[in-house]
Amino acid sequence: MSRPLRLAINGATGRMGSALMSLLDGDPRFELAHAVVSPGSPHDGLPVFAGSPHPPCYAHDWGKAEAIDVVIDFSGPAALATALDYCLAHGTPLVSGTTGIDAELEARLERAGRSIAVMRAANFSLGIAVLTRLLRQAAVALPGWDLEIVEAHHGRKQDAPSGTALALGQAAAAARDTTLEAAAVFSRAGRTGARAQGSIGFAVLRGGDVVGEHTAMLLGQGERLELSHRATDRSIFARGALQAACWLSGRAPGHWHLDDVIAASL
Ligand SMILES: NC(=O)c1ccc[n+]([C@@H]2O[C@H](COP(=O)([O-])OP(=O)(O)OC[C@H]3O[C@@H](n4cnc5c(N)ncnc54)[C@H](OP(=O)(O)O)[C@@H]3O)[C@@H](O)[C@H]2O)c1
Repeated sequence: MSRPLRLAINGATGRMGSALMSLLDGDPRFELAHAVVSPGSPHDGLPVFAGSPHPPCYAHDWGKAEAIDVVIDFSGPAALATALDYCLAHGTPLVSGTTGIDAELEARLERAGRSIAVMRAANFSLGIAVLTRLLRQAAVALPGWDLEIVEAHHGRKQDAPSGTALALGQAAAAARDTTLEAAAVFSRAGRTGARAQGSIGFAVLRGGDVVGEHTAMLLGQGERLELSHRATDRSIFARGALQAACWLSGRAPGHWHLDDVIAASL
C-alpha cells in the first residue's frame, strides 16, 4: 500500500475545515500533517484530535509545515494568500475552495499555475461537477430548447443567484457560444413580454435549512428535461476536495478543474 497523502488544511477550525477533520480522522489514505488557524484563535497550539497522542496541533503559521503533499484551503482571502506563499516556496499543489477573492489575489493565483498545480472550485461537490458536464451536453444537443436555472438555499444566504447557479449558467452559455452576460435574465415581474429566444432565466428560492438545490430545466415543445442536484450535507464539499487532493498530488503545474477529476473516471 502506498503511503498516506500528507495534507495541510488551511482554515482548519472553520465549518469546512471541521468537515474535513471529521473525514480525515481515522482515514488511512490521509495523514493530517498541518492544520492552520487564524492568529489569535483559541485553538492555536491545541491538539487537533482530542486524546490523540500524535500531533499535529493547530498552528497559526506555516513554520512547522514539512513535506506536505497537498494544501487544502477553505479559509478567507488573507489566509489563502499566506497559504499560496507557502505553496509557491515549496512547490506544493493547492486545492482551494475559498471564495470572495479580489482581483490582485486572483492574478497571483493565475500566475501560480505556472509553477505549481492549482485546483480551485466555487463548489467542490462531485455531483455538481457531473451536473455541469451533463448540462453542457444537453445545452448543445437541444439548441432550440429554453433553459431556466432554479436554485434553493437556506434563508441566511446573502447572495442570489448562488455562485453555483451562475457557474451552471456560464457553462451552458459557453456551450451555446454565448456569454452569461448576454443571455441571463435575473428577474421577471409585471408585464415582461414574451421570453427572449436564447435567454437563460434564473429563479431563486430562500428558506428553512436548505443546504443547496440546483435544477437546470431544458424546456421544449411537449417535453421537458430536468437535471437536478440536491445537497443535504456540507461534507460533500469536503469529500470532493479530498478526492481533488488525491488527484492533484504529483500533477504538473497548471490550473486543473474538478471536471478533470470526473473525466479521469470515465
Ligand atoms: N468551494 C466550495 O465547495 C465551498 C464550500 C463551502 C465554503 N466555501 C468557501 O470556503 C471558505 C470558508 O468557508 P467556511 O464556511 O468554512 O468559513 P468559516 O467557517 O468562516 O471558516 C473560515 C476559516 O478560515 C480561518 N481564517 C480566517 N482568517 C484566517 C487567517 N488570516 N489565517 C488563517 N486562518 C484564517 C478561520 O479561522 P478562525 O475561526 O480562527 O477565524 C476559519 O477557520 C469561504 O470562502 C466559503 O465561501 C467553498
